[in-house]
Amino acid sequence: MPAKKPTAPAAKPPAAKPPATPPVKPSTRRKPVELPAADEVKTRRGKAKRAVAEMGADSGERLPVLKAPAPIEPHLVTELDATIPVVIPLGARSPVDDIVEVLHKEVIGQERAIQAIARALLRSQEGFRTPGRPISTMFFAGPTGVGKTETVRALAKALHKDWRAILKIDCSEYSEPHSVARLIGAPPGYIGSDLPAIFAKDNVEGVKNRLVLFDEIEKAHPRLHNILLQIMDEGRITLSRRTKDDDGIVSFEDCIIVLTSNIGAFEIDQILHANRIGFRNEPPAVSEQTGQQIYEAAKEAMKLMFPPEFRNRITEFIVFRALKRESLYKILQKLLNISAERFASLGFQLTLTDEARDWLVDRGMDQELGVRPLVRAVEKHIDTKVAELHAYGLIKAGDVLVADMVDVDGLVEEHAGHRREIGFLRAPRSEEAEKGKRAKSKPPKTEFIVRY
Ligand SMILES: Nc1ncnc2c1ncn2[C@@H]1O[C@H](COP(=O)(O)OP(=O)(O)OP(=O)(O)O)[C@@H](O)[C@H]1O
Ligand SMILES: [Mg+2]
Repeated sequence: MPAKKPTAPAAKPPAAKPPATPPVKPSTRRKPVELPAADEVKTRRGKAKRAVAEMGADSGERLPVLKAPAPIEPHLVTELDATIPVVIPLGARSPVDDIVEVLHKEVIGQERAIQAIARALLRSQEGFRTPGRPISTMFFAGPTGVGKTETVRALAKALHKDWRAILKIDCSEYSEPHSVARLIGAPPGYIGSDLPAIFAKDNVEGVKNRLVLFDEIEKAHPRLHNILLQIMDEGRITLSRRTKDDDGIVSFEDCIIVLTSNIGAFEIDQILHANRIGFRNEPPAVSEQTGQQIYEAAKEAMKLMFPPEFRNRITEFIVFRALKRESLYKILQKLLNISAERFASLGFQLTLTDEARDWLVDRGMDQELGVRPLVRAVEKHIDTKVAELHAYGLIKAGDVLVADMVDVDGLVEEHAGHRREIGFLRAPRSEEAEKGKRAKSKPPKTEFIVRY
C-alpha cells in the first residue's frame, strides 16, 4: 500500500490579538511569582524529609543534627520545612570537633552515642545550659562491655589529655547507707570522720569540664541517688563537716556528670538472643531494628528504676548498642597496637596473619559479655605467650614475630587431641636478615617457636 501522503497541517487560526494593556514602565513591573507544581512540591518535600530522616534518625529521638552526611539543597530546607535542622557547610569546624575525633579513635562502633555526646557538649559550650546546674548530665545505658566506661575514659583523654582524669564513683561500693557517707564525709564523732570527703572541694572544683562518673548507678543505695539528685538539681552539695572558714558547700557547676548503667540488661539480652544479633554475621537491617528495640527496652527499664524527678534532670540519655563483628576487628587492632607498644619497648615486633585475627575474633565473640572476652583472648593468646617466650629467651631484640594458626597435636599431652592454636614464627634478627639479603641465594628461614 502506498504510503499516505502527509496531510498538510491545518492552517493555524490567526493569533488572537492580545488585549490591550496599559503600558507599564519596565522598572516598576513586578516579576510574576512562579509557584512549583503540586507534584513538584510533593517530591521536594518528600526529598527534604527523607534527607532529614537520614540525618536525624537517632536512637528513637528527633535531635538536631550538626553535620549533614548527605548534601541537602539549602533552599529546599528553608522553603519547605521550617523544622529542619541547621545545615553546616562542608569543612566548617566546631569547638567540639577535636573531642569527637578522639572519641572516634578510642571508641569503636558507637557513632550514634558519640554524635549525641558531641551535641550535648556543643550545646553547653555555646551557653545553652541551665545556670546553677552541672554542665551536662549524661546517662549511658546499654549492654555490658560495649564501651560505656571506655567512652568516659576517652572523654577524659580529649578534655584533659589524661584518660585517668575522672572522679569515678564505683556505685557498687556504695550499696550500704553508711558507705554513702564517705562521699560527703562522716559527721564528727562517727567512724571515718577523720577521712576527707570524696566530694571535697579540691576534688570537684577548680577544673573546667571536670568529669564525674557514677559507674553502674543502679547498684548504689538510694541515699546516693538523693545526693546525686541534689547535684543534678542544684549543682551543689553541702558536706557534713563545716568550719568557720569553710561553708562546706561544693559546687558541681563546672562538672560533666556521667552515669552509666546496665538497666534493662535482662531485656536487652532477650532481644539480642531473639535477633541473634551481636557478633555473628547479622544483616545490617536486623541490627538497626534491634538497636531501636534495645533503646526502647533501656528507656522502659529506666522508667521503672528511677523516679520522674531523677529522669527529668538527665540532659542526655544515650544508649550504647551491641557491637558488630566488623567493629571487633577494629577493637582487636586497637588492643594489638597497645601490645605492640609494649613489645617495641622490648625491641621486637609482632604481626598477625588474617587467620589468627579471625580466630581471636571468634574467641572474643560473645553477645552477652560484649568485648571483654576479646580483651581476655588477646591477653591470654598473645600477651601472655609472648611474655613467656621472651622470659625464656626465645625471642630477642630485633626479632620479628608472626602469629599464625598452628596445629598443636603432639605438643600438648597425648589425651588433649587435635587443637589449633596461635603459634609464633620468629623471623631472624635484623643482622641475620641483613646477611640473608646479601646472600640472595639462600633466604633466611623463619622458625617455629611454639611453646605451650
Ligand atoms: N566500643 C568500644 N571501642 C573500643 N574498645 C571497647 C569498646 N567496647 C569495649 N571496649 C573494650 O572493652 C573493655 C570493656 O569496655 P567498657 O568498660 O567500656 O564496658 P562497659 O560498656 O562500661 O560495660 P559494663 O556495663 O559492664 O561496665 C574496655 O576496656 C575496652 O578495652
Ligand atoms: Mg562500665
